[in-house]
Amino acid sequence: MSKILITAALPYANGAIHFGHLAGAYLPADCYARFQRLMGHDVCFICGSDEYGVAIAMSAELAGRTPQEHVDCFHAVNKKLFQKMQIDFDHYSRTTWPGHVQTTVALFNDLLKNGYIEERESERLYCEQDGKFYADRYVVGTCPSCSFPSARGDECTSCGASYEAEDLKNPTTKIGNKPLTLKKTVHWYLRLDLFKDKLLAWLKTKSWKPNVVNFIKKYIQDLRPRAITRDMKWGIPVPLPEAKGKVLYVWFDAPIGYISATREWAECIGEPDRWKSYWLDPSTKLIQFIGKDNIPFHAVVFPAMLMGQNTPYKLVDELPANEFYNLAGRQFSKSDGWYVDLDQFLQKFSSDQLRYTIASNAPETQDSEFTWKDFQLRCNADLSGKFGNFVHRTLVFAKNTCQSTVPPMSPLQEADQLFLDQIKKLAEATREAYGQFRLRKACQSFMELAQAGNVYFDMKKPWQDAKKEEWGSVHTTIACCLHCIKTLALLAYPVIPTASASIIRQLGLEEPYLRRTWEEQMAYCLPTGHLLGQPEPLFRKIEDEQIALEEASLKK
Ligand code: 2FM
Ligand code: ZN
Repeated sequence: MSKILITAALPYANGAIHFGHLAGAYLPADCYARFQRLMGHDVCFICGSDEYGVAIAMSAELAGRTPQEHVDCFHAVNKKLFQKMQIDFDHYSRTTWPGHVQTTVALFNDLLKNGYIEERESERLYCEQDGKFYADRYVVGTCPSCSFPSARGDECTSCGASYEAEDLKNPTTKIGNKPLTLKKTVHWYLRLDLFKDKLLAWLKTKSWKPNVVNFIKKYIQDLRPRAITRDMKWGIPVPLPEAKGKVLYVWFDAPIGYISATREWAECIGEPDRWKSYWLDPSTKLIQFIGKDNIPFHAVVFPAMLMGQNTPYKLVDELPANEFYNLAGRQFSKSDGWYVDLDQFLQKFSSDQLRYTIASNAPETQDSEFTWKDFQLRCNADLSGKFGNFVHRTLVFAKNTCQSTVPPMSPLQEADQLFLDQIKKLAEATREAYGQFRLRKACQSFMELAQAGNVYFDMKKPWQDAKKEEWGSVHTTIACCLHCIKTLALLAYPVIPTASASIIRQLGLEEPYLRRTWEEQMAYCLPTGHLLGQPEPLFRKIEDEQIALEEASLKK
């Protein structure tokens, strides 16, 4: 049994999470955590709200709330949405948790003592009208890399370049469009440049996706000292007497949130030192799920911060970074109305329907997208037409013809043996895919098995054998189909846990069955004579009219 610490990028608590967030990090992370628990590993799955930073202070101001009120609201909103989506974190923390300050300050002090943080005077963007400095997302201007005219103060949404707000051309305040000029001020800088060789050597030991590795190598070439403090009120105060009025940059404290959240989890379960067995044990595997826009901070900045301090924290082992998941060709954007409200969506459709739609089309190697038609197709053709149909027809047949019991598997014919072999083969393919972070492939494999079940059922025609009273053949067919269904519940569990639990109930098995390991479930045979549960449809079909309504409301 290995220890596996799984983290998913901490979402900003300034808006509700949407499908794009789910596809980028949370759903793949949850499926992976569920899979590794099935493999019998000791898994700790951690996340929480990212609550500081300029973007949050700004959106709180726009919403007429204090930053604390704002994050309190969205922390609760997102926590609930994750629950509704069955994203089963061991702990969902928040960076305004008081214990987070302690971990962050200790790390800052180490870096400072070790010479990796230094004070520098620099020129920062200042608004004469307001008499204050503006940073990051409070600022807009022209991108220094691609000349995109509405670039954000921290990164360009057009070309993806990340920079400091002072690098922008023609900077103005985002709210009010007021001109900004450079003015001298003191800040603390993380000497990222000093980690170049160490980072490159460390990176060589990783076999991450080529797009991730290539991006990082390029990024490391241009590593410069980076300001990790800001002139503002909302944030963790810089722990130095001479730094009054300054707070730590959100990207400095946020990744430390992974560690403090694990500490909070340990406190909550009444074993305050337990976090150490993950973060301080070199044999633990640390897997960090993120969207591609978070690569530099997880692959370079946070590892450099950890390399420069004194506690032997784990560095990331695997960094499954996904591309973007768009909405019908464009990025999700609430402000532009290009958006599907997750909470409203879940009042009309099930979390499993969305989980499968996203997982089977996850943006693993390139951007992918949600469209209402594709959603309908995956739900109707795959979930209802193949998966649900096979499960339901088998269980209804078993109820009507075998008195709701598991019939004996009489001597097997060639077709039966081939079907049983196919079950094993596709189970193995699904297992392998989950282990390699290939959710699309895993979905494809278990759906192929559901369809193989339908083909087998159609080919064996047990209804004809029943008419002819060839009970041996009927029983073998149904016993093989039930065996397949039991396997499908296992294979599909990481993606559609609600449907899997329902299958288990319909098979007359108790809920704790799902807590058995993959190996135990694969080895388990439904005993002859076992009483099955009541069959019920797994998924609801989605009608054309409903899709037409959703499409129309999106266009509006
Ligand atoms: O991009 C984001 O949504 C950030 N809040 C992710 C932070 S991840 C971690 F470092 F906390
Ligand atoms: Zn640009």
